Amino acid sequence: MLKSPSAALLLGAALLVAGPALAAGDAGKGERVYKKCAACHQVGEGAKNRVGPELNDLIGRTAGSVDGFKYSKAMTEAGAGGLVWDETTLDAYLESPRTAIKGTRMAFPGIKEADDRADVIAYLATFSKQAAAPAPAETKTAEATPAPAPTAAVPAADAAVPTHGVFHLGRAATADEIAAWDIDVRPDGVGLPEGRGTAADGEVLFTERCASCHGDFGEGAGRWPVLAGGRDTLKADRPEKTIGSYWPYLSTVYDYVRRAMPFGDARSLSDDEVYAITAYLLYLNDVVTDDSFELSRENFTSVKLPNEENFIADDRSAEPHYAGKVEPCMKDCKAEVKITMRARVLDVTPEAGKENEGTTKVD
Ligand code: HEC
Ligand code: HEC
Repeated sequence: MLKSPSAALLLGAALLVAGPALAAGDAGKGERVYKKCAACHQVGEGAKNRVGPELNDLIGRTAGSVDGFKYSKAMTEAGAGGLVWDETTLDAYLESPRTAIKGTRMAFPGIKEADDRADVIAYLATFSKQAAAPAPAETKTAEATPAPAPTAAVPAADAAVPTHGVFHLGRAATADEIAAWDIDVRPDGVGLPEGRGTAADGEVLFTERCASCHGDFGEGAGRWPVLAGGRDTLKADRPEKTIGSYWPYLSTVYDYVRRAMPFGDARSLSDDEVYAITAYLLYLNDVVTDDSFELSRENFTSVKLPNEENFIADDRSAEPHYAGKVEPCMKDCKAEVKITMRARVLDVTPEAGKENEGTTKVD
């Protein structure tokens, strides 16, 4: 209850009807409600003032009293008038901050659901030495024991997922969903799953699952992509860019096949099958020559693709085109801009069927 009558005046009527009927909250559920507050507040070990003051030891704390936080005049005065945060005063403030304390700087519309308010208060109470004054029935004492500060919120696989996020759109992804998407493999081997497979095993799989489009030897059936060959064609008029002739890293092969192939039936291959097929693609590209070659997580990064060294770090600033340039002009660069012609008049759009006529230079 309120500690002084002047605070009651500041907090207005909302508080006075709140009275004894407050429900005991559920700290576990409150952690989820607290996500609405986390944009502005911190709580738990090492919590700092952010947009709003830190919320440790909130229960029993005088309003507007955290050192180093610049409160509104309204909040400071409420504190000076004797307003102390407890379940009742918090309930009123969180229901409608600006009705409860006219002039508060907390730009938060409030929480309509009484249960949500009770839950978030119970959650905040777990960070208060002076635990929340027990609500009517003293059944919820367990929740008043301090819980460890929340760490990064990775939902457990079976955790109930809130029905909406901060913006009331969608819901948080479950751990299983995240794991299903989080399958990228990096050139240094990070992300490779456990597994192995030989080029010979890969040949069988490739013939069954890939050859209808990519040809028996990766030569490409019809106009489907070619996967092998093309060495030394990169400087030709029509370079043939394949895994062997162009791709820099084997990790891309593994990642791509595992993620996207067979076309139309993606993610149907096991990790071992992808190792076997990747080994076979190395074989088709003459990177390995023995079809008993076994590719595994352990030897994966020892395989280098022929074109790797032609991929270089892109240091634009050292290139001739950029090296000689001074700071670009951003202000008052040209005294006057004159429009000399209009595209409409110049007729720059190529007409259908006259493919080569659109290339005339327009200066
Ligand atoms: C958009 C930012 C923002 C959000 C979101 C927000 N707050 Fe605040 N909160 C503030 C600011 C700013 C203040 C300081 C208000 C003032 O000085 O008038 C404040 C003050 C408070 C206070 C008073 C603290 C004190 O030291 O007296 C409490 C309690 C509080 N907020 C709780 C919450 C809770 C719980 C939520 C979530 C349900 C929440 N706030 C959401 C910005 C926010
Ligand atoms: C139904 C036809 C089809 C089948 C079957 C198929 N692919 Fe593909 N594959 C494609 C198409 C189409 C692309 C190009 C996709 C794109 O560019 O978005 C492609 C692209 C690729 C690429 C990248 C080629 C490049 O240079 O960009 C690789 C590697 C590949 N497939 C491997 C496989 C493997 C391995 C299998 C068997 C497990 C397989 N594909 C089965 C149609 C197929």
